[in-house]
Amino acid sequence: MSVITNIEDLRLLAKRRVPRMFYDYADSGSWTESTYRANESDFRTIKLRQRVAVNMENRSTRTTMVGVPAAMPVALAPTGLTGMQHADGEILAARAAEAFGVPFTLSTMSICSIEDVATHTQAPFWFQLYVMRDRDFIERLIARAKAAHCGALMLTLDLQILGQRHKDLKNGLSAPPKPTLANLLNLLTKPRWCLGMLGTKRRSFGNIVGHAKGVGDLSSLSTWTAEQFDPALNWGDVEWIKKRWGGKLILKGILDAEDAKLAADSGADALIVSNHGGRQLDGAPSSISALPAIVDAVGSRIEVWMDGGIRSGQDVLKAVALGAQGTLIGRSFLYGLAAMGEAGVTKCLQIIRNELDLTMAFCGHTDIRTVDRRILLPGTLPH
Ligand code: GLV
Repeated sequence: MSVITNIEDLRLLAKRRVPRMFYDYADSGSWTESTYRANESDFRTIKLRQRVAVNMENRSTRTTMVGVPAAMPVALAPTGLTGMQHADGEILAARAAEAFGVPFTLSTMSICSIEDVATHTQAPFWFQLYVMRDRDFIERLIARAKAAHCGALMLTLDLQILGQRHKDLKNGLSAPPKPTLANLLNLLTKPRWCLGMLGTKRRSFGNIVGHAKGVGDLSSLSTWTAEQFDPALNWGDVEWIKKRWGGKLILKGILDAEDAKLAADSGADALIVSNHGGRQLDGAPSSISALPAIVDAVGSRIEVWMDGGIRSGQDVLKAVALGAQGTLIGRSFLYGLAAMGEAGVTKCLQIIRNELDLTMAFCGHTDIRTVDRRILLPGTLPH
């Protein structure tokens, strides 16, 4: 591969290096994938206002997210099976984020466990929680996140049930992959990935295997979700979790202004405007188009962040201009990780910060914290 200059380069390299079922798992949405695609394409219709002859020296992209200093308004999103994109993936991504100065979020459905990531990092990371029927297990998960000094709990509200992703069913997604002929043939073409996996013991859901009792097929995300995730999750549970946790709470998966008001009422520290990367309700609006109404409804009461479709620093800038105090990237860093391990995540963060910094300057700003809707052409805003 020639010089890597953008996230698309990382994606193409990832596609070559990772077994098909894991590449497909990351790079797909539910059903027709219309929301998945809109997340990206709705960013592209927003136009930026260029300003000239403004002193562009001494620029800063630094900010805070729930009080945590960040080198730019970007955190790594919780992503399931990250350790299947690259051996020890969660540890590598957390280390890259720490060195770069942005928050890392560990998914409940990670391969490396909470304890394992804590052992291999210094900076407190955030822990994303899925709520299961087994409340003992949830209490223990929360206690484990506390013991590991996680800096915030990110509670996902939009995955009580799983949106159907055709490719995962067709590929027979599991961690580790089952030794079927099709899988073995595909693995033969991914020697670098196989070598990495042979060199690590971390090959199944590290937060769950050995910690949860009485479950069927632990290697399958869809089976686990269907059997264990609590479809009864409601705002009363949010209150219960907030009390048990006692630290900073971030609510993920808000798309509607009415839900945003309930999230603000709950006393959480931040909410994330998100459609789960287009992986849950296909046909829902893109995250960037849902953002402005939510900022208008609750922006003065709670930090509003967004995720979904961010593939460049320009996308980050547009989200910030529309009122997001922070953003999260999922696939962008996964492509970097799958392509080149820790160095690939660092590369992804460098690419995004560079694009953000230069675009901010072209728009006449030197400090990300002063950017607002005025850098966008009004007629091009999502509605
Ligand atoms: C799980 O979080 C998924 O979206 O696959």
